[in-house]
Amino acid sequence: MNKIELEKIKEHALKEHIPIIMDDTLEVVNKILKEIRPKRILEIGTAVGYSSICFTEFLCENGVIDTIEREEERVLEAKANIKNTGVEEKVNIYLGDAVEILPTLNNKYDVIFIDAAKGKYPFFLEQAIRLINCKGVIIADNVLYKGYVMSDYNKHKQRTAVRNLREFLKEIQENPDFETEILEVGDGLSISKKRY
Ligand SMILES: C[S@@+](CC[C@H](N)C(=O)[O-])C[C@H]1O[C@@H](n2cnc3c(N)ncnc32)[C@H](O)[C@@H]1O
Repeated sequence: MNKIELEKIKEHALKEHIPIIMDDTLEVVNKILKEIRPKRILEIGTAVGYSSICFTEFLCENGVIDTIEREEERVLEAKANIKNTGVEEKVNIYLGDAVEILPTLNNKYDVIFIDAAKGKYPFFLEQAIRLINCKGVIIADNVLYKGYVMSDYNKHKQRTAVRNLREFLKEIQENPDFETEILEVGDGLSISKKRY
């Protein structure tokens, strides 16, 4: 993978205020991927392809990433970025709303990375549980959302997103099939390992 191009993609995304995975979060996810060496990763929320491109480094031979993005302009940019970094054989992008696309998928994945609309996290979780492989890992970014999720302050504009993130965390933490930890890296990261 072309790391000079990757650095340019990151700089451009930051300059244009396109949300991409934070460095400390990426470090934690990379460590997990390095241990698993996944064959298939599913990402919900491609943006311009930055995290997908980073994750390709840890796929096993012939491994692939399926990633979903609903903004057409971002998909076009992601495709160009994926080509420029030389990983086009490893990343498939689905253009469309993950709420519609996820129910059509039937492959199982070793790792599922949730990084899209916070208000949809409970639905993404339901689908991720359906699509995760035995011993797979579901990772979700932004689960603490600027601290709102763990505070009892409820009068901000993002009430629906916060309510849904709380529901997501409750569901995954109470699910006996998964062992979940929540880390205060970036905007909060949940890591849920399927026990069997
Ligand atoms: C935080 S960004 C993803 C960043 C990317 N994972 C990275 O780290 O490089 C979230 C992206 O999810 C997309 N998105 C939000 N809700 C979505 C949905 N329901 N279906 C598909 N894409 C969605 C947004 O358009 C945005 O580009």
